[in-house]
Amino acid sequence: MKDLTGRVAVVTGAASGIGRAIAERCADAGMAVVLADVEDVSLQQTVADLQNRGAEAAGLCVDVREPADLEALAALAVDRFGGVHLLCNNAGVDTGGPFDQIPEASWRWVMDVNFFGVVNGCQAFLPALRAAGEGHIVNTGSMAAVNAGMRTMAPYIASKFAVLGFTENLAVELAATDPQIGVSALLPGGVKTRMTDSERNRPAGVELSEDPVRAEVVAGIRSATDRDGLEPLDVADLVLDAVRERRFYVLTHREAALDAVSQRLAWMTEDRQPLPRVLR
Ligand SMILES: NC(=O)c1ccc[n+]([C@@H]2O[C@H](COP(=O)([O-])OP(=O)(O)OC[C@H]3O[C@@H](n4cnc5c(N)ncnc54)[C@H](O)[C@@H]3O)[C@@H](O)[C@H]2O)c1
Repeated sequence: MKDLTGRVAVVTGAASGIGRAIAERCADAGMAVVLADVEDVSLQQTVADLQNRGAEAAGLCVDVREPADLEALAALAVDRFGGVHLLCNNAGVDTGGPFDQIPEASWRWVMDVNFFGVVNGCQAFLPALRAAGEGHIVNTGSMAAVNAGMRTMAPYIASKFAVLGFTENLAVELAATDPQIGVSALLPGGVKTRMTDSERNRPAGVELSEDPVRAEVVAGIRSATDRDGLEPLDVADLVLDAVRERRFYVLTHREAALDAVSQRLAWMTEDRQPLPRVLR
């Protein structure tokens, strides 16, 4: 999809951070945008901001854990703007602790939003993307998908490995069945968003860990991101370039990602234990 003008984009997790920035850049490129999020107030504000800048924009309060919500989102996009060309499955959350102390509700929340949210989006939107004749899916994973080894982060890391595995497989499947639909995996490193505050959206039953290592890990992510993180709009630019050029991997911190993959290759070839990853 070299020319995005007049096309329709749908973005989940669009009320904040990377999702909001992708929606903004899509609007800048002349696309109509449909925004989805669980945070209704910020969502409506974001839609109004885009409309005030002259964009065609609509929003729906959606929980990506619910397949029916994503079906309703697809129906809204088709009814309002006539179809869908770009789907960005971007909503994501994190909670954690020492792996054996994490309640099942917390594991499920992270897997349901980060992984099943992506699967639900792909399933709900495939008919509309097929009908559009040309389309693209961007699934947001993380550098964590190529770089594990952070204490207290097991659910998040497992969910992002799952997103990357699913998305690589999706690309292969669609290349065989629907070659007019491109696929990208966005693997961000640190980006200045509200991610480390994502427990704000936790459902009942998801308890905050009081483990001191967890507090240290989250503080390390916050300070590394404040210091070295990218601006969400710069990430959104990379995403739109990848859509136009039909590139699969979108690596915001390219060298660090390639280093992590090389390091894993060395662990395998030299039969070594994985090493920890510590952010400060
Ligand atoms: N910020 C980073 O450093 C970073 C790094 C790697 C990956 N990511 C990934 O980027 C994506 C976007 O996160 P962000 O950094 O912009 O964080 P953010 O918290 O600023 O934005 C995430 C958005 O997702 C929404 N959301 C949460 N649960 C939802 C649900 N069930 N249904 C619909 N919307 C929901 C939130 O309300 C929020 O608006 C996530 O998938 C995250 O894992 C972020």
